[in-house]
Amino acid sequence: MASTSVRIDTVTKRYGDSIAVDGVSLAIAKGEFFTLLGSSGCGKTTLLRIVAGFLKQTGGRVLFGDTCIDDLAPQHRNTGMVFQSYAIFPHLSVVDNIAYGLRARGLKAAEIKRKVDTYLELTRLSHLGHRKPRELSGGQQQRVVLARAMVIEPDVLLMDEPLSNLDTEMRIHLRTEIRALQRKIGVTTIYVTHDQEEALLMSDRIAVMRGGRLEQVASPHDIYNRPATRFVASFIGENNFLPAVHRGEAGPGHVRLELPGGQFTAKLRGDLPAGALEAAFRPQDIELCPPDGGGDGLVGTLADIQFLGGTVRYAVDLGGGHLVQVAGSNRSGVALPAIGTRYRLGVSPAAIALFAPEVA
Ligand SMILES: Nc1ncnc2c1ncn2[C@@H]1O[C@H](COP(=O)(O)OP(=O)(O)OP(=O)(O)O)[C@@H](O)[C@H]1O
Ligand SMILES: [Mg+2]
Repeated sequence: MASTSVRIDTVTKRYGDSIAVDGVSLAIAKGEFFTLLGSSGCGKTTLLRIVAGFLKQTGGRVLFGDTCIDDLAPQHRNTGMVFQSYAIFPHLSVVDNIAYGLRARGLKAAEIKRKVDTYLELTRLSHLGHRKPRELSGGQQQRVVLARAMVIEPDVLLMDEPLSNLDTEMRIHLRTEIRALQRKIGVTTIYVTHDQEEALLMSDRIAVMRGGRLEQVASPHDIYNRPATRFVASFIGENNFLPAVHRGEAGPGHVRLELPGGQFTAKLRGDLPAGALEAAFRPQDIELCPPDGGGDGLVGTLADIQFLGGTVRYAVDLGGGHLVQVAGSNRSGVALPAIGTRYRLGVSPAAIALFAPEVA
């Protein structure tokens, strides 16, 4: 692993009685694209502003490399910042906006021009250099902000929901572009979003936050496929949750479970949680099988079909108020089944995760 670029060491931020960031520790590697993901109010912005130096934490330390930076003013931390609102200077041209930080640092004119040209090209703004912000689209303005943050060659790039003010098309375009640009220049990046697709697509690692704490820190693939907690399993992607009762062992590392609608074998991913259990499995991991074909599975009745073109969503009723969502694909020449058809739901033992139920 590359050396650590940013270390957040048991950082806490209190506002009176309430706690916005609760003892968070993280080590972010050099060149890593690291994302803080979580719903509104979970403490993402607070943590990012502490790293930037705009907010003073109540406890804990922040280090860049081996140096504690808690006493450094924001402008001395060599961070580049991209926030939700554009905050580019309306009276300055694109070129002058990008050059702003370099002039403030007292670089020579030739050096400034060379760097500005490089970043105009990287952000594909070369042909717009003379324009004023009001003559740019939202996506172009956001690229100016990016260029301005990156051109100073920061040690750490901090981005707080930089795409949330843009329309869907521009957001999808820019998220790929930001990631490509970040890879190219290799700048350590902390990115804040509440958009899980953005997080999964862009990040080397994701920290899922909840109520000021970290729920899980892992690669996008692991966050999705091996959620550490029930919260992560429900927050990232879609999952079916069913109450489960442990009915004994089923070979090494496997357990037998009783669920509404039938019995299942599940492969254990860790220790079996003590007490009550919930089984979680994803819509795309379920196969609709004939009810009497033998084998494991839950038997239920097709209650609803949503045809979405390329994909088809099925809701299967297991009785007792338990509906299971199944994702399938639409294949040419294959007719849709009729509502009321009986199915056995086949799920591979490895696709089932077991959790203790959340206490409300
Ligand atoms: N100045 C403040 N005084 C009191 N409480 C605050 C203050 N700033 C933030 N908070 C609280 O701290 C918590 C975390 O806020 P923060 O802005 O970090 O959330 P966030 O994860 O960035 O949310 P969002 O996705 O909505 O931007 C929230 O409950 C918020 O109300
Ligand atoms: Mg925020």
